[in-house]
Amino acid sequence: MAAANPGVMDDTAMRHCIERKRDGHALSATDWDAIIDGFMEGRIDEAQTAALFMACVWRGMTFEEAHALTDAMVRSGETISFDRGKGIVVDKHSSGGVADIVSLVAVPLAAACGARVAKLSGRALGHTGGTIDKLEAIPGFNAALSLDTFIRQVETIGCAIAAQTQALVPADKRIYNLRDRTGTVPAMGLIAASIVSKKIACGAHAIVFDVKTGPASFTPRPDQARELASWLVEICKGFGRKAVAFVSDMHQPLGRTVGTGIEMVEARDLLQHSDVILSLSKDPERSRGVQLILKVVAALLDASEITGGEERAAKSLADGTGYAKLVEMVEAQGASRGALEAMELDPKPLTVKASQAGFVQSIDVVHLGNAGRRLSRNDALGGLFVNVEIGDRIEAGQPLARVYGKDKEHVRNLESSFKIGAEPVEPPPLVYDMVT
Ligand code: URA
Repeated sequence: MAAANPGVMDDTAMRHCIERKRDGHALSATDWDAIIDGFMEGRIDEAQTAALFMACVWRGMTFEEAHALTDAMVRSGETISFDRGKGIVVDKHSSGGVADIVSLVAVPLAAACGARVAKLSGRALGHTGGTIDKLEAIPGFNAALSLDTFIRQVETIGCAIAAQTQALVPADKRIYNLRDRTGTVPAMGLIAASIVSKKIACGAHAIVFDVKTGPASFTPRPDQARELASWLVEICKGFGRKAVAFVSDMHQPLGRTVGTGIEMVEARDLLQHSDVILSLSKDPERSRGVQLILKVVAALLDASEITGGEERAAKSLADGTGYAKLVEMVEAQGASRGALEAMELDPKPLTVKASQAGFVQSIDVVHLGNAGRRLSRNDALGGLFVNVEIGDRIEAGQPLARVYGKDKEHVRNLESSFKIGAEPVEPPPLVYDMVT
């Protein structure tokens, strides 16, 4: 059955849509278009829209519905267009993690290898960090670029990371807020449409997704993450964009630090080979974070039709050209090299020590993510350094984590985030799958 009055969504037509979705039927592209239009223009209210989304949570959505919703959301605002004749523009998106510095490092590294990377990023959400908050911890950094400035910067220096603007996909901002308030975030089709609509509006010709799986992610099980990864890739293809998606692990922090500015310091140090964070880390060049960064850069290069893959990325990391590109981007966005390099951690962190010997069985990533956000609320450089990974053998008294910042005395119970047991454990894989 079609909507009561196709093309115009009023109270009665919306009720029919809700009932059809409640009874397990798919809505048409015309319905989704009219729903987004009606919601944005105030012809249908939040109560009906939330009821529809709850029906989507319970009944699911078809792939065609997710594609139609994405399309309707993209058309709610402006879109960016990069001239394909000047070269391929790529974008990178993470579904949200803890200690996830991949974008901060991969974007300048890929640009240093010749890619053009245009990335609009979000802020912290729940226990997950936000790339924009991390960059804004550099004094003077401006994430609020106009769309013209954003495009020009990508064309001139090869990369830009800016905050989402109201002009692109305004429907997502309002709908995400409504979903957050009404418990309707976890529906595959709604998540995929929300993520992809912003990527399509941002104009990149190819997108590399990093879909996290584990207790700290929207898709706790690998099969759920694989499904989301396939939806993201397929919807992008429907819009004529190339896409690949990694399914990567979030059972433990990816990098070593958790917070905002402290993660920026880790990213800077990795690119610069300086020793603030690196001296604390064991084998930084082979850490899980660096391994994933190199894979993501290789995928960005491949999508950009640039050869060399991980080897080329590793060379840019080693020879300092990746760091030079980070500095160029930071300077183009209003901050100075001096400000980036002056970011220093609290010299007297507190140490959280293991009270027993054994193997690290599991790490409560949500707890660490929340602690990191709390520590960085009043001190941009406050946060955690995590010393251990799942599977590590530790002795009693060995440091599990270091706590930095003005509020370090207020963070309690961190030892309970690390479950230590007598049995050896296999660490989880870093990458479960790559969906192409
Ligand atoms: N990230 C988004 O941008 N949207 C969602 O719905 C979930 C995660």
